[in-house]
Amino acid sequence: MSVQIILGAQWGDEGKGKIVDVLSENVDIVARYQGGANAGHTIVIGGKTTALHLIPSGIFREGIVCVIGNGVVIDPNALLNEMEMLRSLGVETRGRLLISHNAHLIMPYHTLLDSMAEQGMDKIGTTKKGIGPAYIDKYARTGIRIVDLLDRDSLCVKLRRNIEEKNLLLKHIYNAQQFDVDKIIEEYTAFDVTIDEYITDTAAYLNNAIAEKKNLILEGAQGALLDVDHGTYPFVTSSNPTSGGACTGLGIPPTAITDVTGVVKAYTTRVGNGPFPSECDNETGERLRTTGGEYGTTTGRPRRCGWFDAVALRYASMINGIDNIAITKLDVLSSFDEIKICVAYERNGRQLKYFPSDARTLGSVTPVYETFKGWNDDISKYMSFDKLPWRAQEYIQLLERLTGIRVSFVSVGPGREQTIKL
Ligand code: GDP
Ligand code: IMO
Ligand code: MG
Repeated sequence: MSVQIILGAQWGDEGKGKIVDVLSENVDIVARYQGGANAGHTIVIGGKTTALHLIPSGIFREGIVCVIGNGVVIDPNALLNEMEMLRSLGVETRGRLLISHNAHLIMPYHTLLDSMAEQGMDKIGTTKKGIGPAYIDKYARTGIRIVDLLDRDSLCVKLRRNIEEKNLLLKHIYNAQQFDVDKIIEEYTAFDVTIDEYITDTAAYLNNAIAEKKNLILEGAQGALLDVDHGTYPFVTSSNPTSGGACTGLGIPPTAITDVTGVVKAYTTRVGNGPFPSECDNETGERLRTTGGEYGTTTGRPRRCGWFDAVALRYASMINGIDNIAITKLDVLSSFDEIKICVAYERNGRQLKYFPSDARTLGSVTPVYETFKGWNDDISKYMSFDKLPWRAQEYIQLLERLTGIRVSFVSVGPGREQTIKL
């Protein structure tokens, strides 16, 4: 029996979707624990590419039950579109997808408020999917949960109160569009009817499954360095992608977790604003972006690119309890004569012992690099570690040494089959 968390150990887009899809071959349940449609998890099967935003990346494996946990914030339109997209691919979600009755809903005013806030000076560079404003309401205890859709009268009262408040904000601060309560109620009650059969107490379902010794993958969105508590605040998302978030976001006790797998790229990317010590804002970064196809799955924005950062990964390992890492996109480094790895940070002439998650401090560090000779060979065709050029093998071993974490998988291409188990 295993309850394995698979999470992003950098700033998101590490290839979690691909790794979850590959590893879900032998599990019973895949459950998403936080975030919303800000996520974009890409899966490539038989040359066909699909991007998932809310539905867990186990959906392409027949017989697996996918769960959207209480920690996720759900945009009805995003969910319905995704279900429809899957249906058009012949993947039926009915009977295979469960949604927590306690998950919060993203309302139209959340999305608008997110966009409005991003027009200001201090931009985070959000995905504008309404994530921050929805979690604000969750913690202010004014959020609308799926379960609230069941009681029409109290839903109307809550929505009216929320909309009155948001309309004031939209009118006086942002001079923006006002919302009509009745229209929203109509839209969300129709949504409720459509998803009614999917709604359940997912915490009870998952704990029963654990008691029955089923195998589970708990899928994170975003990445450790975007965690609202442990990431590069304020340039973070508004949830906990770190391993603790899997427990609160699903109602699974920490004692049930058996493994934590961190997914990391063989280099680093970040989309949105905030400090990024090993960023290559130059030709090298451009080359990583072009070769790696580093454009946002959700927003299409070009991702900022740079070298692998061992300091950041040691930090991610500490706060998540990472047992093993899956390294993705090693193939992207194939054409580089020289590859760098950030092994330490310096600040004011001193080496820093720890990763400073505080954005201001992190923004003022200088990366210390070790340079590594490349392997100059297309590795995307190799199916075993032994077949990889010895310099590529050495690169993996060096990452293990620098981070102190065992590498469990190496991905050498986007396809399911382009995955090497160590
Ligand atoms: P996620 O959000 O962590 O699931 O990652 P994304 O799907 O947003 O971004 C990862 C991108 O890299 C996707 O386009 C994947 O298809 C692609 N990808 C994943 N693993 C590999 C790999 O090993 N090599 C290459 N070249 N692409 C990969
Ligand atoms: P996946 O799951 C990469 C980033 C945004 C922005 C910050 C806050 O595909 O790895 P938000 O919309 O969440 O309020 O934006 O977080 N961000 C991501 N970056 N991958 C993601 O998801 C992300 N989800 C949010 O770019 O910097
Ligand atoms: Mg992504």
